[in-house]
Amino acid sequence: MRVLLLMGSPREGASLRLGRALMASLKEQGLATEEYYLVQGLTQGWGKLESAVRQADLLILSSPLYVDSLPAPTIAALEALADNAAGKRMAAILNCGFPEPFHNTTALKICRQFARRAGCTWLGGMSLSMGGFSLGKGLSRRVRISMKLAAQALARGEAIPDRAVHLAARKPIPKWLYLLVLNGVFRRVVRKHGKAPIDAQPYFH
Ligand SMILES: Cc1cc2nc3c(=O)[nH]c(=O)nc-3n(C[C@H](O)[C@H](O)[C@H](O)COP(=O)(O)O)c2cc1C
Repeated sequence: MRVLLLMGSPREGASLRLGRALMASLKEQGLATEEYYLVQGLTQGWGKLESAVRQADLLILSSPLYVDSLPAPTIAALEALADNAAGKRMAAILNCGFPEPFHNTTALKICRQFARRAGCTWLGGMSLSMGGFSLGKGLSRRVRISMKLAAQALARGEAIPDRAVHLAARKPIPKWLYLLVLNGVFRRVVRKHGKAPIDAQPYFH
């Protein structure tokens, strides 16, 4: 079975680490893997990606959440690929910056709807929060186990099991600690670059 990782983020961040962790586990299951940055399609055309999609049996989308949805290049890529995706299996990993994973819910539904409309078999999605900060440079044991469990099921052609979904969605640190650290980082950035106070709402009337 051939697996194609569709990278939804334009940068080498959390989505890449998560996607590659799942791909490494799928490789251990004996599957052939390949990865593709979706933003490349915007500049280089969709030809290369179309043939990669045609050859794949399983598509894995790993994407950040942008404004409660998928990044625009990711949506454009899915639209461009829809005609080649029929008959494939598909799953998604979404990660967001807010502390709660439920912010990914609508975007995951968009992925599921895409799969249905494109004629793919939807094998489910995983949703992670506190992305940029908590995923750091490596992945926690919890996240690695969730990817392993997901890979075992996906390799058998089955949906991602609930245990993998729940493990991935668990908050790595308490919300108050996350906000404390993040606000500290934002204040440092504002002190360095900004002029307005951090709580300024210039468009709020
Ligand atoms: C333009 C933009 C919009 C974003 N919108 C949201 C959002 O609506 N909700 C959220 O929780 N995080 C949002 N984020 C945070 C990212 O989802 C988060 O940092 C993610 O971990 C980035 O993944 P990456 O490292 O793979 O790019 C946004 C980030 C950017 C750059």
